[in-house]
Amino acid sequence: MTSPAKGYALITGASQGIGAAVALELARKGFGVVVTARSEDALRQVCAAAAALNNGHARAIAVDLSAPDGVDRIVRSVSEQGLPLSCLVNNAGQGLWGMFDELTLDDQRRMMHLNMTVPVALTHQLLPLLRKAPEAYILNVASMVAHHALGSMAVYSGSKAFVLRWSRSLRIELKGTNIRVTCCSPGSVITGFTQRAGMQAMDDLARKFGTGPEPVAKAAVAALLHGKAEVIPGLMNVVASKLQGLLPTGLSESIASGIYLKRLRSRK
Ligand SMILES: NC(=O)c1ccc[n+]([C@@H]2O[C@H](COP(=O)([O-])OP(=O)(O)OC[C@H]3O[C@@H](n4cnc5c(N)ncnc54)[C@H](OP(=O)(O)O)[C@@H]3O)[C@@H](O)[C@H]2O)c1
Repeated sequence: MTSPAKGYALITGASQGIGAAVALELARKGFGVVVTARSEDALRQVCAAAAALNNGHARAIAVDLSAPDGVDRIVRSVSEQGLPLSCLVNNAGQGLWGMFDELTLDDQRRMMHLNMTVPVALTHQLLPLLRKAPEAYILNVASMVAHHALGSMAVYSGSKAFVLRWSRSLRIELKGTNIRVTCCSPGSVITGFTQRAGMQAMDDLARKFGTGPEPVAKAAVAALLHGKAEVIPGLMNVVASKLQGLLPTGLSESIASGIYLKRLRSRK
């Protein structure tokens, strides 16, 4: 089979949620896609849906990125298949809701690994392949909490601040090359995220103010293909972020943290 004209995009965390929606949006734009995550059945379904959009150029690699050899397995598989890679989407990530000293150190270390070490390692190992493409793209998925401190999600917000700063710095280093780097900072998105982060007590707010993953994916891919440094999907989130910027940092952080901490305490 011939390769897709735009090359292949590798998307982590693509079995559901934002990653699956980004994979389908990139397939719609003519990219071949390589979807990765742990859940094989869900991956197969996303793969089939993408293949129906881009003439069959869809592959799946089932990998646990928390495993020590998770990144190496993906890199090996892409290299062995000889896929012309032109896009990397570092999306896989998780949250943990709770007080820093009440969450276990092991759980927080695992989250730091998935949210920070994995995208850094994957990008480092795949850059040589991306450099071979005529035009290449890296999309890093951070969060609106990358922009401010959030009590009850101290390590998560720190990990996403890392993604944002790293992404913008890498973009500067790659300026003038064939590779553009974009960071997407979603607000509340209705996916499996809150359940996995133990945030069921925030579900009603997430449903009230959140969007589905599809508009987030559309905004992220549009920003990526336009070479933007950063995108906050959704007008309401852009306005909220601007308003936050007008307030003194300590005040805006204690307003946002107050809502989360109150819910956390009432959960106990
Ligand atoms: N939802 C929100 O409100 C929100 C807001 C801001 C930012 N974000 C960020 O958006 C990204 C995607 O989140 P989402 O909302 O789409 O969450 P989600 O529905 O929970 O999806 C997470 C994805 O990551 C994969 N994943 C999790 N652990 C993995 C592991 N150890 N190895 C390989 N894959 C793994 C999951 O697949 P498997 O379970 O099949 O492995 C799934 O495909 C995350 O980085 C998150 O921090 C989300």
